Amino acid sequence: RRRAVAATVPVTVAALLAAASPAVSAPAAAPPAAHGAAGAGDPYFPLAGNGGYHVEHYGLTLRYDPASRHLDGTAVLTARATQRLGRFDLDLKGLKITGVTVDRARAAHTRAGQELVVTPRRPLRAGQRFTVTVTYRGTPRPVTDPDGSDDGWIPTDDGAFVAGEPQGAMTWFPANNHPLDKSAYDITVTVPEGRTAVSNGVLVDQRTARGLSTFHWRQREPMAAYLATATVGTFAVERYTTRDGIRVYNAVDPREAAAAAPVLKKLPSVLAWESTLFGPYPFRAAGAIVDHAPDVGYALETQSRPLYDAAPDLATLVHESAHQWFGDSVSLTSWKDIWLNEGFATYAEWLYSEQHGGDTAQQTFDALYAKPAGDRLWAYPPADPGSGARIFGTPVYDRGAMALHALRTAVGDRVFLRVLRAWATEHRQGHGTTAQFVRLAERESGRELAPLLHTWLSAQGKPERA
Ligand code: ARG
Ligand code: ZN
Repeated sequence: RRRAVAATVPVTVAALLAAASPAVSAPAAAPPAAHGAAGAGDPYFPLAGNGGYHVEHYGLTLRYDPASRHLDGTAVLTARATQRLGRFDLDLKGLKITGVTVDRARAAHTRAGQELVVTPRRPLRAGQRFTVTVTYRGTPRPVTDPDGSDDGWIPTDDGAFVAGEPQGAMTWFPANNHPLDKSAYDITVTVPEGRTAVSNGVLVDQRTARGLSTFHWRQREPMAAYLATATVGTFAVERYTTRDGIRVYNAVDPREAAAAAPVLKKLPSVLAWESTLFGPYPFRAAGAIVDHAPDVGYALETQSRPLYDAAPDLATLVHESAHQWFGDSVSLTSWKDIWLNEGFATYAEWLYSEQHGGDTAQQTFDALYAKPAGDRLWAYPPADPGSGARIFGTPVYDRGAMALHALRTAVGDRVFLRVLRAWATEHRQGHGTTAQFVRLAERESGRELAPLLHTWLSAQGKPERA
């Protein structure tokens, strides 16, 4: 979120990857022998992700020196081939590679743009599990997205703000960089003593020796690469376990501490409130990283531990927390469905306000609906907004939330809340598409809703009031 400003069928990653690949395995001629596709088939980010394998686990071991901005990394990816692979791609932008092995045998590699092409000594069989190890070093640089914002490894005055949506994971580790592929992670980061490296999941080990501190984080529930972080700074740390047994780890830049404290105090009650609406919180860990990164301009729902560029207000905390269900646990299969993340997280803000003495969702809806037809709110529809430059635009957030409100108005509160909860529950730790959401809403309500949702999600221009 910007600062100041038959749905039940489980879809396997392999099936999604297989379905996605043809769109980008370019030449219509005979497919090249056993080459994994250079992209996962995303129309907005054609080179994001790769075809031919699924990463089960990333083991990242990093060392970062904030003074020189130098990063040393070793990435060990445990993967499974979904086809025969004579070669396959990873996504990595910048940095210098010092070695690549596949199953511990040296593998040839070449680089072209963000594609790191790996040729194992022997082709991998379909279904084969394999390990890729990449050692690399250099000065990571953020990537500039089509909308002009930066993401990835963003240096700060005391460390780095590390946020990867939509593209930036590849600025700091070799990845299958598309939310279609979700994986478990172990992320170990060594920084100068006095700095803290904060990542996703549970802190399983922390040690300091010879002026260096090492933090080992473990994210067990599947995570899309863009939701990984390894944010480094001078942080005050607070740890506790909630009544529900969720392990909270908050890291706060002292410059933001006074403003952050009253909001962070509400994190357990926000998560508990969201759990009553959306179903059990999807992860074993939670928390917040409140950095001081004045040039960034947004917060990100990094999995289990959202990342803020400054002390958040309560609405932003509610928004990033709601993403843990909508976006993190239930992932996109394509960036064009981004409203499934942002529309839902925005609607959570409206509901929170309504149930905590603020404006009702209806009032928020009405204030937005009053905007004239020429307003940027109506510039393009939220579902498939048209390009990667538009995925974080107002229509995706506000009109996406308005679409949910229109659904609520049509089916009533009881059914509407059942739809939200069923969506989070049935697609938990998985994926969902807009079409699946429409079908789920129709199933839960017993009503035909496709026309209404089409009007709000996909039609050009300001919708007529339903
Ligand atoms: N998903 C984030 C949020 O709304 C926004 C991320 C924006 N990223 C960017 N590169 N502009 O919570
Ligand atoms: Zn958001």
